[in-house]
Amino acid sequence: MKIIITDSYKEMSERAGNVVASQIILKPDSILGLATGSTPLEMYRYLIELYKKGVIDFQNITTFNLDEYHRISPSSPQSYAYYMMENFFNHINIPKENINIPNGDAIDVDEECREYAKKLESLGPIDLQVLGIGPNGHIGFNESSDHFPVGTHLAKLTGDTLEANSRFFDSIDDMPRTAITIGIRDIMLSKKILLLANGIGKADIIAKALKGKVTPRVPASILQLHHDVIVILDKEAASKL
Ligand code: F6R
Repeated sequence: MKIIITDSYKEMSERAGNVVASQIILKPDSILGLATGSTPLEMYRYLIELYKKGVIDFQNITTFNLDEYHRISPSSPQSYAYYMMENFFNHINIPKENINIPNGDAIDVDEECREYAKKLESLGPIDLQVLGIGPNGHIGFNESSDHFPVGTHLAKLTGDTLEANSRFFDSIDDMPRTAITIGIRDIMLSKKILLLANGIGKADIIAKALKGKVTPRVPASILQLHHDVIVILDKEAASKL
């Protein structure tokens, strides 16, 4: 595991963007695993800038998003599908058919999980997986529990996650209680993993995940066992390492 500590959120984002950009340049038909949330926002902005400057081309890139809220339509501004279109996909030249995001609105959610897993398995493994980390150590929506969830599944969001993510909804009561997420096995099968975290609010969990015991109570701790992980932090998130 390579840990890079940067001075600011902007520097973290640009270093992360450069890792993604070099992946795209070296393998123009890469499969990228993508995250939403506050953490990668500036990285997406920077990648759009590199695309506009002609440094990178998304024509042959395929993406798989980690997760999506259950019972939220892709057109809802709170959906991860909407986030990805607004903050990234609408600004680059990725063909729409190369974008994969679980359909949170699927009538048969088990079938949706199976189909998403099948597609990922047939096209994968992911070349580069971008991850943020939840306050409880979740990656994707693989929540803290007594076992590592293996494959794509419908996750029950824990109290910590509901609290942390309710900022995107009118109130915590409006938040979905479940979400579709790829599993820990899918993440660990990625050839390379890029974990990002910024801000003092992530300092405790970053210390636990990177230096603590490997345990499903802190799902991100399993990344200690992956052969090719780059962690890029700002100095606040790194302050308890
Ligand atoms: C998002 C995801 C989550 C977030 C995590 C951190 O697709 O899978 O695991 O990466 O909740 O969220 P932020 O970046 O908002 O702190």
